[in-house]
Amino acid sequence: MPSSSMSRQSPLRQDAVWDVRAQQTVEYEVVLTSDLLAPANNSLARAGISADTPTPARRCVITERTVDKLYGDRMRAYFHAHSVEVHWLVLDSGEEHKDIGSVLRAVTAFDSFGILRRQEPVIAVGGGVLTDIVGFACGMFRRGLPHVKIPTTLIGLVDAGIGAKAGVNHAGGKNRIGCYHPPCTALLDPTFLDTLPDRQISNGLAEILKIALVLDAPLFELLEEFGPLLRSERFQGRTPPSALAGDEVLRRAIGGMLAELEPNLWEHELQRAVDYGHTFSPALEMHAMPELLHGEAVAIDMALTTVISWQRGLLSAAQRDRVLALMTALGLPRTHQACRPELLAGALADTVRHRDGRQRMPLATDIGSAHFVDDLTGDEVRAAAAYLHDPRDH
Ligand SMILES: NC(=O)c1ccc[n+]([C@@H]2O[C@H](COP(=O)([O-])OP(=O)(O)OC[C@H]3O[C@@H](n4cnc5c(N)ncnc54)[C@H](O)[C@@H]3O)[C@@H](O)[C@H]2O)c1
Repeated sequence: MPSSSMSRQSPLRQDAVWDVRAQQTVEYEVVLTSDLLAPANNSLARAGISADTPTPARRCVITERTVDKLYGDRMRAYFHAHSVEVHWLVLDSGEEHKDIGSVLRAVTAFDSFGILRRQEPVIAVGGGVLTDIVGFACGMFRRGLPHVKIPTTLIGLVDAGIGAKAGVNHAGGKNRIGCYHPPCTALLDPTFLDTLPDRQISNGLAEILKIALVLDAPLFELLEEFGPLLRSERFQGRTPPSALAGDEVLRRAIGGMLAELEPNLWEHELQRAVDYGHTFSPALEMHAMPELLHGEAVAIDMALTTVISWQRGLLSAAQRDRVLALMTALGLPRTHQACRPELLAGALADTVRHRDGRQRMPLATDIGSAHFVDDLTGDEVRAAAAYLHDPRDH
């Protein structure tokens, strides 16, 4: 009760307290499929619509320049064949455009389209940058528009296109603003990967390697045996063995990721195995943008922590070399000139804030498993960076 020197009559007999508790069930489908743009396939036209509802007559479809250039004609022909009138928004490609300005362009498009709040799920077609922008825009517009994710990159297929998180960069911070807003459906079609440059395939292989390193030793072995072939074939399965291996790698990566995300969709638990490779990489990626891609920054982070695990005796020298050799075979970097002690120290400090005051740092303890530590020192990080700059000195 407030105290006051002047005696004053309270308007209340006594304080009153109401406990408000609500629960929300989240349910969405992640479908691994193919030939989404074939006119005879109605999955895309009906995406996000319940079975008893007719196909909507109009949809807002958001994509980005590169995807529009490569697939725009087929997408237009597809929706025309399904008699769906489309309101298009084509955003600029690239991490440099992953900002609040792009999110607001999407919001303006929803308004000018006059979108209905529930019946017309927005369709996002593009890489992780595009699906993050649209996911965030849908999360904020009238506090929640339904949306469908159609990832067109490997990172999108195994990570950005299947979870509940959406966010954009702000004030130099990676994904500094965003929300949790799951899609109603994610349709994953690996045939989009056929036009992806090799470097972008490697970029996605980094997130697959992450799952392998901390959760799935057989996936690591599959990457050792087939990774370079899958990269050169862009997961298009040109021969029966590579088709089988590509399918298995995608299923294990997507299934492994979803198994980790599902019980912790809102990240109430901040100790997350899937944060492996994401301790130093956010600052590194922002610092070296656009030179370094997301997966490349993640790979450098994983190389650092692999060496730290070896320094601590958690991994043998042979295991360390196996991991580093696989990175090279997958076309991934292990270090970058930006990996200087000050940047790495600042990166760790920011990640500690992101993880609510503790490091909660996943470190590999074997190929396929990890544990969490809170006692990483600056000296260990400096020594690991120096080792990766020049292993001959050690
Ligand atoms: N929300 C999440 O949970 C989550 C998870 C992982 C990553 N991310 C985010 O995802 C982003 C990285 O995603 P990305 O690697 O897909 O980047 P991206 O969206 O920038 O796509 C990479 C490049 O490929 C081009 N492209 C897209 N599809 C293509 C296709 N089919 N053929 C040819 N070119 C194509 C794009 O124009 C771009 O130049 C990062 O911003 C990262 O923060 C988000």
